Amino acid sequence: MREELEKLKNELSNKIGASRDLEDLEKIRVQFLGKKGAITLLMRSMNELPASEKPLLGKLLNELKQAASRELDERKLELQEQLRQKQQEAERIDITLPGRSILTGRRHPITLVMEEIEDIFACMGFQISEGPDIELDYYNFEALNFPVDHPTRDMQDSFYINKDVLLRTHTSPVQVRTMEKMAPTLPVRIIAPGKVYRRDDDITHSPMFHQVEGLVVDHGISLADLKGTLLLFAREMFGPERQIRLRPSFFPFTEPSAEVDISCMFCHGLGCRTCSDSGWLEILGAGMVHPNVLQICGYDPELVSGFAFGMGVERIAMLKYGIDDIRLFYTNDLRMLRP
Ligand code: DAH
Repeated sequence: MREELEKLKNELSNKIGASRDLEDLEKIRVQFLGKKGAITLLMRSMNELPASEKPLLGKLLNELKQAASRELDERKLELQEQLRQKQQEAERIDITLPGRSILTGRRHPITLVMEEIEDIFACMGFQISEGPDIELDYYNFEALNFPVDHPTRDMQDSFYINKDVLLRTHTSPVQVRTMEKMAPTLPVRIIAPGKVYRRDDDITHSPMFHQVEGLVVDHGISLADLKGTLLLFAREMFGPERQIRLRPSFFPFTEPSAEVDISCMFCHGLGCRTCSDSGWLEILGAGMVHPNVLQICGYDPELVSGFAFGMGVERIAMLKYGIDDIRLFYTNDLRMLRP
């Protein structure tokens, strides 16, 4: 019996020593100390022993049981500690890793340029006026002195919704809407930024693009006011050494009319690819508001005069950022949109 106990003790110690995890250990506990465990069964069989052997064997058996419990508990603590360390290792945070950068948005280049244009004119005392993208033929053409069926309407290929309604082809109708609302109050000094639509599509034209319109009406406004205003704008936008020049042109709603160029900032007027060797870059159309337009909007052309201009925002942005394909503004390529 003694030998048997000794064997059992060794077997138990070996098994505990070899146990790999808490589950293993629990199995060993059940095997020895569970209801049908080896030690438990031995204790139950004590009754069958002769009375003379009972005290000694009982003592040994108790010692074995206690030693078994102790060893199991110690190993349990060890395995728990191992498990804890393993988990900690797995969850360890490497504080030397670079952080994940937060995705931040930014304003679209067109928005940036629009806001810059607005700021420049706001500093000169202009207010911002807006009109609808879906416009009446009356405001888009007729009140701007484009007669019905007149070939001058061909300048702007349009998206018509019906005979009287179209997607505005320019921001000039906001001139009419503003003057109509304000007349006879003076001065009128507004810019009108917004989207415009034309049946055009190539690397410098998009069917939807942005314009900023400008309009000043007051007593004694002259071409000199127009030129001074645009020179200041050109210098604020493209640098203090810019010059401007006005070339005679035609728009039905201005008389006289001009195309306005700025001296090329890439070659400083010497001639390069961007300015087609001319030294000048066309940036906008302008002129003195036609008397017919003033009249139709409620101002007396004998008493007041005005100037107007309209510029393409994409064109300005392309020059400012050196972009040569207008479609890049609308294809959402992140290389274009990232700061
Ligand atoms: N509306 C013209 C266009 O889209 C641009 C323009 C030219 C606007 C002369 C003006 C102006 O106000 O005076 O082509």
